Amino acid sequence: MPDYENYTRTSRNYDQTRVPIGVDTIITEMSRGEKPLSQQTVLDAGCGTGNYLLQLHDKVDFIIGLDRNQGMLKRSEEKLLQAGAGNFELRRAELPEIPFEDDTLDRIMINQVIHHLDTKPDYPVLREFCRNAYRALRSGGSIIINTCSPQQIWDCYWYVEFVQPGAERLAQKYIPIDQLRQFLHEIGFGDVRQIVDVAEIFYGDHYYDLEGPLNAAWRDGDSIWSLLTEEELNTSLESYRRAHADNRLKEILNRTEKRRRAIGQSVFVCGDV
Ligand SMILES: C[S@@+](CC[C@H](N)C(=O)[O-])C[C@H]1O[C@@H](n2cnc3c(N)ncnc32)[C@H](O)[C@@H]1O
Repeated sequence: MPDYENYTRTSRNYDQTRVPIGVDTIITEMSRGEKPLSQQTVLDAGCGTGNYLLQLHDKVDFIIGLDRNQGMLKRSEEKLLQAGAGNFELRRAELPEIPFEDDTLDRIMINQVIHHLDTKPDYPVLREFCRNAYRALRSGGSIIINTCSPQQIWDCYWYVEFVQPGAERLAQKYIPIDQLRQFLHEIGFGDVRQIVDVAEIFYGDHYYDLEGPLNAAWRDGDSIWSLLTEEELNTSLESYRRAHADNRLKEILNRTEKRRRAIGQSVFVCGDV
């Protein structure tokens, strides 16, 4: 299954802008139930450059990162070794496969990956992934899915009005949250819940860099840009430059901030086994 994002190239720039969002939510979710976090085996599916592995390895017993892209896995390994982590394994794997025996994992998290798996209306790959997760999780375990709603894509990123065709294509790739919850429920997950922390911002402070769109490395932080054709990208940058020259960017940012503070930029959907 080809990806619309070239992660071998992106792996070199990804950490310039992307920060792990929702780590507190993940820790709270993983701390539910009887088994202490320090005794848990955790899988990060689509671990990318290991930003979540890095935040969590010293809080859990063992952590596993899966990704299809060797460049991303290499960055994960470099960062974990640099942090002195010894309790990890990194594996190349293609989701929806979860190459673990039944009832062996305490938590499976998947952060900002499911929009790469497939598209509407039925999301067969995503459903297969959720079924595999249910199988591989132990009783008392849970799945933690970090994603965005289509509305968050449209309403909560200040530069979206410059990248409309990309936003249109990206929003199509994000499953509506009610449908995702329904899938989990049908598979057998219990207490399916959704959590939004409106204070969590993709790219942290880099998000507020109003010069960002001019920088290819900054654009690598959001798939919305990679979904534009070259011609569309040129048109986008032209209209962005015009808005910049007319001093309209601050006003655009402030307008989006109101919506972002109300809706947030991401959602966690979790369910128990
Ligand atoms: C947007 S990045 C998110 C990385 C990381 N979870 C984070 O939030 O920083 C998406 C990651 O999912 C991986 N990915 C996409 N589709 C995949 C698949 N079918 N199997 C395994 N990995 C996949 C990509 O290689 C990439 O590293």
